[in-house]
Amino acid sequence: MAQSKHDAIERNVFLMIVLTLLAVSVGGLVEIVPLFFQKSTTTAVDDKGNALDVKPYDALRLAGRDIYIREGCYNCHSQMIRPFRSETERYGHYSVAGEFIYDHPFQWGSKRTGPDLARVGARYTDEWQRVHLLNPRDVVPESNMPAFPWLDRPLQAADIGARMKALRLVGVPYTDSEIAEAPAAVAGKTELDAVVAYLQGLGLALRNVR
Ligand code: HEC
Repeated sequence: MAQSKHDAIERNVFLMIVLTLLAVSVGGLVEIVPLFFQKSTTTAVDDKGNALDVKPYDALRLAGRDIYIREGCYNCHSQMIRPFRSETERYGHYSVAGEFIYDHPFQWGSKRTGPDLARVGARYTDEWQRVHLLNPRDVVPESNMPAFPWLDRPLQAADIGARMKALRLVGVPYTDSEIAEAPAAVAGKTELDAVVAYLQGLGLALRNVR
């Protein structure tokens, strides 16, 4: 009896499709939904539950993050260090979910034409980063990273407060005064200033942990 029922499913393509979708959906939900409620993925803690010093991006860094996305840096750079020795020896402590709670969208990626940038913050001086972005070959002669010379122009971020408000809607705890002061914080800056500020803050929370 049981066998013939299975027979019926395997011979009916549509029934097979519907039941497959059902099985995959239930399996998916059971795996994914708990992640929205676990402390280790929704609060600034490491994988052992210790508090991490992770704060929402300030106005300048947020503007830099947006330029990072606009320029497609993520096409060549991941921001996620996997928990393998070959990675942690090179880049530092592996990435943990709690480091990314204010990233909307996150920049984990997997394509690595260039190195992972999850812990590049404070690895080089601001000046190195500026020279490198304007022409990578000036500091890394064999580099095949493209130059971004146009970043040395005034930052257009009059709408930065609105961007912060939008992020607040998805849970980033910006205060009203932070939003009100944001335009002044980015005034007179260049796009280069913003990208460098963004890069220099990446991954500091676990920088000195091995
Ligand atoms: C076409 C691929 C490509 C793109 C696009 C790209 N990079 Fe790179 N990047 C590389 C490569 C390759 C290297 C390694 C050589 C070097 O240091 O220049 C690198 C190195 C870096 C480094 C130094 C990392 C380290 O640990 O030494 C930083 C920082 C960096 N890139 C930032 C950026 C930013 C910011 C953008 C976007 C504005 C960007 N990259 C776009 C390929 C790319």
